[in-house]
Amino acid sequence: MNIGIVGATGEVGRTMLRVLEEKEIVADRLDLYASSRTAGSVLTFRRQEFEVQELTVEAMQKRHDYLLFSAGSEVSLKYAPIAEAAGNTVIDNSSAFRSTKPLVVPEINSELLDGYRGIIANPNCSTIQLVLALHPLHQSYALRELVVSTYQSVSGAGYKGMRALTAERKKIKISTPFPREIDLNVIPQIGEFDLEGNSMEEQKMVKEIRKILNLPALKIAVTTVRVPVMYGHAESVFVRCEKEIILGKIRELFSSCSAIHYHEKGYLTPKEIGESDESHVSRVRHGFDRYTLQFWNVAHNVRLGAATNAIKILEHLMSFKSN
Ligand code: A2P
Repeated sequence: MNIGIVGATGEVGRTMLRVLEEKEIVADRLDLYASSRTAGSVLTFRRQEFEVQELTVEAMQKRHDYLLFSAGSEVSLKYAPIAEAAGNTVIDNSSAFRSTKPLVVPEINSELLDGYRGIIANPNCSTIQLVLALHPLHQSYALRELVVSTYQSVSGAGYKGMRALTAERKKIKISTPFPREIDLNVIPQIGEFDLEGNSMEEQKMVKEIRKILNLPALKIAVTTVRVPVMYGHAESVFVRCEKEIILGKIRELFSSCSAIHYHEKGYLTPKEIGESDESHVSRVRHGFDRYTLQFWNVAHNVRLGAATNAIKILEHLMSFKSN
């Protein structure tokens, strides 16, 4: 089996390598691609050194069983269709194909992967952790409305986001992907605003949640906020359901989901996320009546929200192929 990673030197690309290693996925050939800036540098996988190659059209036309892309939308739009046309299966972490290709969180809609070849879209980080918690709620109580505010770490903007926060803390002036100073601040803007005043990140979350849960009419209001935290996205969530929500059954509901860590007591903060691959749900309580629920949701945005979900998609494809 041949695996390639496009954007291997980036924050998500490096984490993909680490998760592949942790899950002991063995490749006959591993190709690591990045831009000409880092081509020739060396990354280690399973104690072996791999030289990073420059991403080219010819490289994408080569036979790879699976290509994991995390180099931004522009790169995906240009190179993923070339790889697909050459018969390769692409798992793409950018937003380029989320509305046109299968958008998969394996715990929710893995059936879309069965027998599928081509481009598969990995959802946005804030979407993945949230839909993992919303899915069981919907199955039991029929979701009707969702209001969510996010508190998103700087690693969501890739390595340049982390570098900007570190530099600001040291009072060093460098270019930043953020519209305001991020150190000692919170910024209610992630991406450009549309005509209605919703940021790009907010639009992505609305579309992706509806698509993954297969609820095109779900009423959703989102505010996404960048906070000066390195890793881990937090979300304050309010839902209204059609059926009365039985608080006494919530523990059972969330505990039965493999990707959820339910905290009956206390709560988790992003600083405590470690290398967790779970979506942490805590502070569960009714809203203003028994049809509404509020909770606090935290997950590692680079792992669960990007690399780990992509590798779970890969594992599902591999297991289907070997059956
Ligand atoms: P490079 O390290 O050579 O710039 P992050 O989101 O953490 O900033 O990482 C982005 C990843 O995407 C990096 O691996 C980066 O490579 C890669 N990348 C960015 N632009 C291109 C490009 N035009 N061609 C190939 N890889 C790219």
